Amino acid sequence: MQTLTKERFRYGNGITLIDDSGKEYLDGVSGTFNLSLGYNHPHVVTKVQEQVANLAHMSSSFTEPYVEEVLDHLIQYTPNGIDAGWMRDITGSTANECAVKLAQKYTGELDIISLYLSHHGQTQFATGISGNAFRRRKFPNSAAANSLHVPAPYCYRCPFNSSPDKCGHQCVEAISDAIEYASSGSVACMIIEPILGNGGNIIPPPGYFKRLRQLCNEYGLILIADEVQTGIGRTGYMFASELFDIQPDIITLAKGLGGIGVPVAAVLMQSRLNVLEKHEHSFTSGSNLISVTAAKSTLEVVSEPGFLEAVRSKGSLLGTLLTELADKHDCIGEARGVGLMWGLEIVDKDDAPDAIKCNGIIDRAFAEQQLILRGSRYGYGNVVKVRPSLTVTEDEIVEIVKRLDAVLATLH
Ligand SMILES: Cc1ncc(COP(=O)(O)O)c(C=O)c1O
Repeated sequence: MQTLTKERFRYGNGITLIDDSGKEYLDGVSGTFNLSLGYNHPHVVTKVQEQVANLAHMSSSFTEPYVEEVLDHLIQYTPNGIDAGWMRDITGSTANECAVKLAQKYTGELDIISLYLSHHGQTQFATGISGNAFRRRKFPNSAAANSLHVPAPYCYRCPFNSSPDKCGHQCVEAISDAIEYASSGSVACMIIEPILGNGGNIIPPPGYFKRLRQLCNEYGLILIADEVQTGIGRTGYMFASELFDIQPDIITLAKGLGGIGVPVAAVLMQSRLNVLEKHEHSFTSGSNLISVTAAKSTLEVVSEPGFLEAVRSKGSLLGTLLTELADKHDCIGEARGVGLMWGLEIVDKDDAPDAIKCNGIIDRAFAEQQLILRGSRYGYGNVVKVRPSLTVTEDEIVEIVKRLDAVLATLH
């Protein structure tokens, strides 16, 4: 695993963290991909400060008018007739749990299908439905009993040893077998990340989501898009579901919705799925005023004319520079991404995954270049992730890649 820093950071400015001694670190991953607007976006800071001064908290029984404003804003962008929402969570983990409860209560069915390498959070439930055994090890897990994991659309290392031009989406077809032979016989939903974020920035091939939607229709499954990482502009669109035409029934959000790191989550669904009673899914700090204000002011910024276009254009610059880096350095098997969500697949001389080298790159970037990066699967994987805040400048993108290039050069 990559090592943790003992640095004490004192200030954040834009995408820069500043430590006690005034030393500046460029954050290439926007915190944990949650600082969509950087460390101190003035509009969000001002609105949150005003809210704290006026009224920091009241029970969620009274915050509904504020919540409605946020949901109305989000619903302007939602695909597939998604026109309702729920904001009683502040973490992505419990937002995903909420989405599964909606699907289970609505369908009367039980099982949850998810992808190998997926990450849907770290509560017992979210760990149970995520596609990584290493996080479940050592803990009893009741959610795992109703979880069905199926192969991820990881084309760089295709689990069927095929390629997108000829595979016929075998990874989707395999889901039918899992339902027929491995489920409890009662399947409620499928949850996917549009881009498997922690799994290694894995982007499904063209046609994958269309076939997946058909399959969900065939089996009557509710399709949940976990947009905790991809939502709120990360891919250059408000939702990756729009970019990839996913047609989900439910979308979950957290991370970037809070703009400057304020914890907040939302679950958006078609009205028919809005079946929960408040006592079935509600938390003390769910829909608290600070979170809701952060979400509202973040959305005001992200939906300013030109903002998402700028993300797409900056994303294209980042992609071009990282692809050039991959051409230059043999240890990068592939640079893949969209918008401002990129990953570098780090490989050894035989093209096998090299997690040790990946973590070494991240550690050296921090120690030698004051550049903050993160690795996939919380340091157990071989993908270096590069995901600056949506407010990053073109000069900062060039600087991030320059510093990364300098680290990679020392590996030769
Ligand atoms: C795709 C995805 N879903 C859900 C979560 C869980 O969110 P939280 O940490 O807010 O519970 C994460 C966190 O990394 C995530 O990346």
